[in-house]
Amino acid sequence: MQARVGGSSLEEGTDSVGRKASKNIKPLPLRFLKFLVIFAVAGILFSAISMYTIRYFGLHNVVQIAQSRFQPCFQRSVSLESLIRPSASVWHSMNDSVLLWRASLVPQIKTYPFKRTPKIAFMFLARGQLPMAPLWEKFFKGNQDLYSIYMHSLPSYKPDFPPSSVFYQRNIPSQFVEWGRMSMIDAERRLLSNALLDISNEWFVLLSEACIPLANFSIVYRYISRSRHSFLGVFDDPGPYGRGRYNGRMSPEVHVSQWRKGSQWFEVNRKLAVDIVSDSYYYPKFDQFCRPSCYVDEHYLPTMLSIESPQLLANRSLSFVDWSRGGAHPATFGKADITESLFKRISNARCSSNDQQSTPCFLFARKFAPNALALLLENSSKFLGF
Ligand SMILES: *[C@@H]1O[C@H](CO)[C@@H](O)[C@H](O)[C@H]1NC(C)=O
Ligand SMILES: *[C@@H]1O[C@H](CO)[C@@H](O)[C@H](O)[C@H]1NC(C)=O
Ligand SMILES: *[C@@H]1O[C@H](CO)[C@@H](O)[C@H](O)[C@H]1NC(C)=O
Ligand SMILES: *[C@@H]1O[C@H](CO)[C@@H](O)[C@H](O)[C@H]1NC(C)=O
Repeated sequence: MQARVGGSSLEEGTDSVGRKASKNIKPLPLRFLKFLVIFAVAGILFSAISMYTIRYFGLHNVVQIAQSRFQPCFQRSVSLESLIRPSASVWHSMNDSVLLWRASLVPQIKTYPFKRTPKIAFMFLARGQLPMAPLWEKFFKGNQDLYSIYMHSLPSYKPDFPPSSVFYQRNIPSQFVEWGRMSMIDAERRLLSNALLDISNEWFVLLSEACIPLANFSIVYRYISRSRHSFLGVFDDPGPYGRGRYNGRMSPEVHVSQWRKGSQWFEVNRKLAVDIVSDSYYYPKFDQFCRPSCYVDEHYLPTMLSIESPQLLANRSLSFVDWSRGGAHPATFGKADITESLFKRISNARCSSNDQQSTPCFLFARKFAPNALALLLENSSKFLGF
């Protein structure tokens, strides 16, 4: 029936509807109508698919390119989305001067005109491989809106994380780093700058490849987000390894009584992160006068931040480290050390400051050897709470 009607010409229209309609108006050819319907359905389908694609794959650039082709007279419009959405990959072509400058830009209106969920930026300062990556993957799982990850590694290192990994495309443009030298501070500032580019990052944690988390993500997030302080080890060591490393030529920027020491593994809020990347007052002095055997990573941030913002500091680190074995390096925990008593000892440790009675004192610990990974993974729910 359909085929026959469709096949006949308009003038020979045989069904009643066709005949009634043809009294005053010439009906459209059925074939044409059919074509119109198919065209409309295809159009709707196409726009539905492209909306879906744009929403799920973020292909907004395609739309913008298409728009700019059709409207060559108009500038590409700036949207809130384009201002606040971090890019999927952290790679970029900015050099350090451009990067630090960009990262130091701060909005002067203090309320955000959108719902901002503050995130923690986890910044891994590593030589190359992250042996503890599987443990961190487990730690981060299910919290993607609350964290971002940045890795700084030796330039020769080529990361090979699969797309499913939280570390995929999170390696920032890096440069050579020498422990205890200014290049180390440069790497820390580079990490902070990259993390500052994401307006949602509110807290910034510096970690090494030998660090592990000591609690599950919810505990870590709550602890950091509720604290009034930033966590950075700060103390005044009158001995040869403290004030003994001070150089009188750093004055008047830094007086010996202001000289501080602490480990480099910090957690700072966004304000302090901006202060660190934009410092051009203390940096040259440390660059020039704190060279081995003055280890700049142990003195620059503790000294500068306790001069500038003492009230914001907890003066202690969130990262546990064991110096009890003596020597120039802290203990490294291997397979044989992964026992209940180790984690009891860490959770019972007292905080080394007059800070509020916070339990636990530590959210992270170092240094863990790669051979400890398997046991940590197997027993993570028992020892680490995730
Ligand atoms: C960094 O890049 C900017 C812009 O491309 C350039 O003007 C500047 O000279 C570069 N700085 C250095 C130190 O190379
Ligand atoms: C950390 O030390 C500074 C002095 O350098 C002090 O003002 C601040 O209150 C201390 N922070 C805490 C939490 O005690
Ligand atoms: C770790 O987990 C394994 C497997 O569940 C278990 O056999 C082992 O005793 C645990 N190790 C410790 C130190 O609890
Ligand atoms: C995190 O750990 C705490 C304490 O161990 C526990 O009460 C909580 O249920 C854990 N949260 C998640 C999401 O696993």
